[in-house]
Amino acid sequence: MAAGTLSTLWLLHGVNLDMLGTRDPAHYGALTLAELEAYVAQRGAEHGFAVEAFQTNHEGELVEKLHDIARQGAGAVIINPGAWTHYSYALRDALELVQAPVAEVHLSDVERREEWRRHSVIADVVAVRVSGKGAEGYAEAVEALARLTGAGAQ
Ligand code: DQA
Repeated sequence: MAAGTLSTLWLLHGVNLDMLGTRDPAHYGALTLAELEAYVAQRGAEHGFAVEAFQTNHEGELVEKLHDIARQGAGAVIINPGAWTHYSYALRDALELVQAPVAEVHLSDVERREEWRRHSVIADVVAVRVSGKGAEGYAEAVEALARLTGAGAQ
């Protein structure tokens, strides 16, 4: 990558994550989705990433966004698919098309909640996994992706 060029980091949020801020703050924290996106954009910029965010409650729309990313290319991807994490093989197959390294992030500690949240169908197609660290987990994912891609200002 040329000096001074920002690499695109896609920040993808799945189902129900538009309700952050009011949705179960004990598990998901107090930040709204807009606040979380601003925080990740800031942390991304510090690591040479231009962050583009996308949220949808429609599984097919997320699949199509991943197709666009696969076609157009990207520096890296962070995805929190919400409940789709646990059962969407369609999402898993779409993620497999993406060449850029992908980080799977969960705000809550999915390993210590209900049994059904412990299984991720995307775990084997992502490069980085972080859960249970709230917004900080996204910063951790940005750092890991910057290391993996050698992006921007380390
Ligand atoms: C989540 C965990 C999922 O189990 C849940 O369905 C979500 C959010 C998290 O960020 O902790 O919607 O992905």
